[in-house]
Amino acid sequence: MFPSAENVYSGPDAAGFFGAYGGRFVPETVIPALEELTEAFEAALEDSEFTGELEDLRHDYIGRHTPMYRAKRLAEAVGLGAVYLKREDLCHTGAHKINNTIGQCLLAKRMGKKRVIAETGAGQHGVATATAATLMGLECAVFMGVEDIRRQSLNVYKMKLLGAEVIPVAEGTGTLADAVTAALRHWVERVDDTFYVLGSAVGPHPYPLMVREFQSVIGLEIIDQCGARGVDRLDAVVACVGGGSNAIGTFYPFVLGASVNGSGVLGRPLLVGAEAAGLGVDTDKTGASMTKGSPGVMHGFYSYLLQDDAGNPLEAYSISAGLDYPGVGPEHAHFKDEGLVRYEPVTDAEALAAFEQLTRTEGIIPAIESSHALALLPRLAAELGPDAVVVVTLSGRGDKDIDIVREAGLGVD
Ligand SMILES: Cc1ncc(COP(=O)(O)O)c(C=O)c1O
Repeated sequence: MFPSAENVYSGPDAAGFFGAYGGRFVPETVIPALEELTEAFEAALEDSEFTGELEDLRHDYIGRHTPMYRAKRLAEAVGLGAVYLKREDLCHTGAHKINNTIGQCLLAKRMGKKRVIAETGAGQHGVATATAATLMGLECAVFMGVEDIRRQSLNVYKMKLLGAEVIPVAEGTGTLADAVTAALRHWVERVDDTFYVLGSAVGPHPYPLMVREFQSVIGLEIIDQCGARGVDRLDAVVACVGGGSNAIGTFYPFVLGASVNGSGVLGRPLLVGAEAAGLGVDTDKTGASMTKGSPGVMHGFYSYLLQDDAGNPLEAYSISAGLDYPGVGPEHAHFKDEGLVRYEPVTDAEALAAFEQLTRTEGIIPAIESSHALALLPRLAAELGPDAVVVVTLSGRGDKDIDIVREAGLGVD
């Protein structure tokens, strides 16, 4: 499925819709705040002082450009010609989430806000928000489900060390979706003095657009780095999809048809998103909202959701705390319907096997989220052949997941 060059893409429209998906399904009281945010964001992108400061922070604080590493032993193990890893795990705080929080906190400061809030699942976005808020002198509170607080205690401690207040959310299953609901509810009450730093390409307009813009640095760097090292053909680009922020940042420049050499060859690789199948898409322990979900409204936007017959979100399951969200960003839903990106489910067991494989072949311990993307490599080798060249976005490092991996029984006895 290679989209044709005529398949020109643009989006979202003025109301924040990517095709049928997106929009603003929120109480009337929040609309003025979302409009103010949209205007401030658009103005900031036009202002060289803002973009210059963002660029400096990307370089000097986040540690960009992140390397694009050629993983030769992994390529051999999975049967591909070349595998390049886009090393977002080497960003400050250990994941791509910081690309977005630095951008949003810089915007919060520019808008004169003194306080930011965030939601977090795996804790990675919470740590990244607490970090950016500290850097910019902003007060910070992070909403986190009680189950995730239990699973990700290291990140909870880090947030507290950074001076953030961690607010436990006991409603529902005590995971990411409940934390988003609590953060949105709080924001409605404190919209005058509080900026909501949303952690994925979800939520009401302009969040999916804003997160995409702050994360597109990933795909743009991949294209530059391919150019710099003479890689003039990419067969596939792969990223994992929870809400979809690292994947949208990776895919978007390619969907636009960006290319190194102007021929468009590199610009139109097969784009593949890995979503969490959990115990399998045929079970009710899954997070595969693209494969198993249907369009509906949640958290202020319209997209593919795991939902019951009454339209209530179902509990999502994945071994990975960052992928157990019952929805997916609206631009991904549009990409799926338009055939611009293919989305494939990956089970917990497949992700754990890929985790072990990267650790043992390359000496790189990946996040379990990223391991879902790595798990697609053998499937791509079977489909594209042994000469194929593939880039995988390694969205984060595995430190936060060590206890989960230990519990799953991987590694030494
Ligand atoms: C390392 C890592 N990768 C991926 C994700 C999934 O989020 P997204 O789909 O927004 O990139 C998370 C979320 O916590 C994460 O921590």
